[in-house]
Amino acid sequence: MQRRSFLKSVLAGLGAAAVAVLGYPVMRFLAPLRSAVATEKLAISKTDIPSGDAKEVIYNDKPIIVINRRGKGYIALSRVCTHFGCLVMYDKEQGRLVCPCHAGIFTLEGNVVSGPPPRPLERIPIEVTGDMIFVGYIG
Ligand code: FES
Repeated sequence: MQRRSFLKSVLAGLGAAAVAVLGYPVMRFLAPLRSAVATEKLAISKTDIPSGDAKEVIYNDKPIIVINRRGKGYIALSRVCTHFGCLVMYDKEQGRLVCPCHAGIFTLEGNVVSGPPPRPLERIPIEVTGDMIFVGYIG
């Protein structure tokens, strides 16, 4: 191998390595985000949430609340207020969810009653089977 062709081969190899080293992070940055981690399921015993009570848990890194509504069954809602993202609190006596930041009020179905929140709270799918409540996307 002549000196010139050897140098060309080395430079070509270095160029390919540089493209790989620099290109991978760029491709990772430009690639679309994977769909949200929607496969996680959370199992909660029904005995943990008596009628009228609620349980705050973390689901997919998101604070949610599972409520056992009197006569209406279980529901899971995001606790993140749709106004500026404060965490809503369960008001058991009034049967509603209250945002402490700007007094937004939601029904136990997550609908806005009053205050500045522009949208209902996000509803999280659940499945109630036997003695368990499964929080998460079913299917
Ligand atoms: Fe909840 Fe403003 S953040 S009402």
